[in-house]
Amino acid sequence: MKISWSHCVLKVRDMDTMVSFYEDTLGFVVADRGAIMGGDSPEIVFMSGSSSDHHQIAFVQTRPEEEATSLDHNAFRVESIADVKAMIEKVAQDDRVKAHAPLTHGNALSVYFADPEDNGIEIFCDSPWHVRQPAGQGWDPTMSDEDVLADVKAKFENDPEFRPIEDYQAMKAKEFGEV
Ligand SMILES: [Fe+2]
Repeated sequence: MKISWSHCVLKVRDMDTMVSFYEDTLGFVVADRGAIMGGDSPEIVFMSGSSSDHHQIAFVQTRPEEEATSLDHNAFRVESIADVKAMIEKVAQDDRVKAHAPLTHGNALSVYFADPEDNGIEIFCDSPWHVRQPAGQGWDPTMSDEDVLADVKAKFENDPEFRPIEDYQAMKAKEFGEV
């Protein structure tokens, strides 16, 4: 299984200051923002500087004053749904992993868990589609890959931004001056 770096999500105290800093100093652009679980849940802001990733860094406003770490999770991309399923099986049998949760953002099929020191990890593969973020629903890793994709499509195809990922990336490539 080939695992490659994708993004990290940090818990922040002052969203505006953090977003402006990453815009002004590092040149990232806000890709999406919204309540992470809908309603009045904490805001998440996704930022990217590349068409290859919807976000390369994201901030979620959930860092209590006393919390020592700002890491929510590091995310790593794998190449297929089969790889994500294999990782789910692996962590399910690992006593050092207390819990794991399969989640789909529409644009990805993920599993979330924590390392032995409680640092969050996301392992995901891309789906064929772009979906406006934040978005999240459970998915069933016991389904066939085909059924998993049909289920994701059914869950997210009503999103107004739902489209083939190639279309989204082509738009972003222009925005970022890659083409
Ligand atoms: Fe993530």
